[in-house]
Amino acid sequence: MAGGSFAPTGEVKHYAGKVTGFVVITCIVAAFGGLIFGYDIGVSGGVTSMDAFLKQFFPQVYAKQLQAHENQYCKFDSELLTMFTSSLYVAGLLASFFASSMTRLYGRLPSMLFGGVTFLIGSAVNGAAKDVTMLIVGRVLLGVGVGFANQSVPVYLSEMAPAKIRGALNMCFQLAITIGIFAANLVNYGTSKINGDYGWRISLALAAVPAIIMLAGAVFLPETPNSLIERGQVEKAKAIIQKIRGTSEVEEELQDIIDASEASKQVAHPWANILQKKYRPQLVMAIAIPMFQQFTGINIIMFYAPVLFKTLGFGDEASLMSAVISGLVNVLATFVSIGTVDKFGRRALFLEGGVQMFISQLLVGVVIGKTFGTSGTGTITKGSANFVLFLICAYVAAFAWSWGPLGWLVPSEIFPLEVRSAGQCINVAVNLLFTFVIAQVFLSMLCHLKFGLFFFFAGWVLLMTIFIFFFLPETKNVPIEEMELIWRKHWFWGKIIPQEDDRAQSKPKPAQS
Ligand code: BGC
Repeated sequence: MAGGSFAPTGEVKHYAGKVTGFVVITCIVAAFGGLIFGYDIGVSGGVTSMDAFLKQFFPQVYAKQLQAHENQYCKFDSELLTMFTSSLYVAGLLASFFASSMTRLYGRLPSMLFGGVTFLIGSAVNGAAKDVTMLIVGRVLLGVGVGFANQSVPVYLSEMAPAKIRGALNMCFQLAITIGIFAANLVNYGTSKINGDYGWRISLALAAVPAIIMLAGAVFLPETPNSLIERGQVEKAKAIIQKIRGTSEVEEELQDIIDASEASKQVAHPWANILQKKYRPQLVMAIAIPMFQQFTGINIIMFYAPVLFKTLGFGDEASLMSAVISGLVNVLATFVSIGTVDKFGRRALFLEGGVQMFISQLLVGVVIGKTFGTSGTGTITKGSANFVLFLICAYVAAFAWSWGPLGWLVPSEIFPLEVRSAGQCINVAVNLLFTFVIAQVFLSMLCHLKFGLFFFFAGWVLLMTIFIFFFLPETKNVPIEEMELIWRKHWFWGKIIPQEDDRAQSKPKPAQS
């Protein structure tokens, strides 16, 4: 842990040094890692609602769309079209396992470099696509880039940042994701006005911009001291700590990193350790939170907002404009979370956000059900369409100050050091897995469940809100290394985890020589 650590007494230690320019550049690099992810999330929906794009790659979807009496719910239902969106996430999921080994064995920068290059090639392939195969190959390359960036950038960040700004940095990553989505919404809005097939090509190729900036970062930034020490380069690590902290008094921090690195080498089986009963609550949270985050249904709006608005009978331009509006709400509401999370706590945000999302989804279901019924025919009045847009914005805002940032923050702060990296890997993998699942099934769910789709997600939101109410203790202001206590004192988890005296038997398994 760079920047601060816990003394044996449990008090926070403060190292000498200040927030230097290097650390600020680190933030910018991290932001570009998040932008890459966000741009991808936001770009596909707009592109798949552009006629020129559909005509060229998905002519059947285009033809269906033109049939005025076609069932509204099913006009975009196409496996190929879905695969275009979701292939990225399955590639990212698989890549993140390789990325975690590469990040550990060769360093954080080689991972970023590899991720940036793959991403760049992916955006070129997509921008130049001549057929569906090229499109999907491009998306897979982008996915590999995202897998490597999402694994290495947050680790790079938390190792470079001084402890006192680490929490804020965590949420800035989410902020960058939302800015990336919004940027993609805006680009799509602009390029949709270009005649011919240049519009979607520009949208897809512009993904190269954040990638080039992240690549430049990977070339010019220094490796983290933690990674250098992990690979035996202590002198080099010392010089870097001096540079990033702006002081020559770095012995204490250096020694702590060396100790932490030694200690983590003792834990040879973090994957086996994490299965021990004493880590059960954290393990459950690392699986449940990212899964529930995706079952809020947020990515239906992020991926398919323009398609959804078109389904509701909005015109082309109104659909893209509505996506721009919900994208902006997403960015702005994230600030609410950044400003209140350490004051009101995680639970308050989770619970308020859950209730707001539940009500909005129920109402969207009711309005759409009343308009289109189960046959999927009919037209929406202007008033109802605007009301739906308002409800979707209320829903997006609620997500953006609750499950959005907290879905990343909470799992990252509850694991003890010896199993933290394994826990984080599970969190990222579960998140991408369910992002993929939702992207993959949404269009056909819309076709089959019709307006009931919104009730389906409302049901999940209700379930997860009850789950948080009963099972997630408050983690606000609890020092990371004292987090264990909150589970012991919890009404439910206190009964599940072994008591003090049983713990001797479940010590981390030592390394085998
Ligand atoms: C989620 C993404 C989602 C984004 C929306 C993130 O926290 O992991 O799946 O698209 O928030 O802002």
